[in-house]
Amino acid sequence: MEGVATHAVTAPRATRPAGAGLRLPHLAQVAATTPSVAWFEIHPENFVANPHARELLMTIAQRYPISVHTVGVSIGSVDGIDQAHLARVRELIDELDPVLVSGHLAWSTHQGAYLNDLLPLPYDDETLQLVSSHLHQVQDVLRRPYLVENPSSYLGFGMSTMTEVEFLGELARRTGCGLLCDVSNVFLSGHNMGYDPYRYIDAFPAGSVRELHLGGFTAEDDEATPGGAQILIDTHGTVIAEPVWRLYAYTVRRFGATPTLIEWDNDIPELDTLLAEVQRANTVAAETLTDTTSDVVAR
Ligand SMILES: [Fe+2]
Repeated sequence: MEGVATHAVTAPRATRPAGAGLRLPHLAQVAATTPSVAWFEIHPENFVANPHARELLMTIAQRYPISVHTVGVSIGSVDGIDQAHLARVRELIDELDPVLVSGHLAWSTHQGAYLNDLLPLPYDDETLQLVSSHLHQVQDVLRRPYLVENPSSYLGFGMSTMTEVEFLGELARRTGCGLLCDVSNVFLSGHNMGYDPYRYIDAFPAGSVRELHLGGFTAEDDEATPGGAQILIDTHGTVIAEPVWRLYAYTVRRFGATPTLIEWDNDIPELDTLLAEVQRANTVAAETLTDTTSDVVAR
């Protein structure tokens, strides 16, 4: 079929239910109404200094499996891990006993200052040694494997000597960490950086994948190239885009049944809207994993 690429893949069977990002505006409603969702993921930074939210979280954690996704444990910072922050995260984790713990391949702190962005790293041996050393520390303190997430990318480093998936694979081999594949990040980074997201999924170290993410993005004009192509920003502020659902189906075929999280962090909608996206992830995964009629996915 002209203009449509196809990929032969093996379709694994069985499914795993999707979960939802649990944000502060939904805490009381979730605690009071126990909606039908398999699990929730939290950002520990929202709870370490908020006793009321923490109390609600502990109530919710009695009824649902909880996954912990850190945004302030900066495994890529050259000046090391903030041990005080890591200790606060560990205290919460000890109390919650989460099913998964994860964070980003990025840096977001420098000389004690917390930056509001997840910033990129060059993919070379020096960075690999630094991040591996930090990951060993984090996993030792938290006493469990840490999942590392592929970032959303807007620029790269000319000094990189390996691809992102090669870097992630080597990180997993050296440290025993797992990987979190954010399918939306793969799609938008492919658009922004000019690579094929399907080839990225093909190359991703499937054996280390423990979780998937899906989140909404926003298209914006690139101020650096007025009138040029738009860039896609990882805003987590809207529904999942249709091309990402197709890439998700392809990803599920390649990786098999994998816990999948819907992330929605800005312009947070009514809980029902978020849970409808969770249900769609369940439907896409179930249809993909039970489809015995075709081993070829079109995009
Ligand atoms: Fe993510």
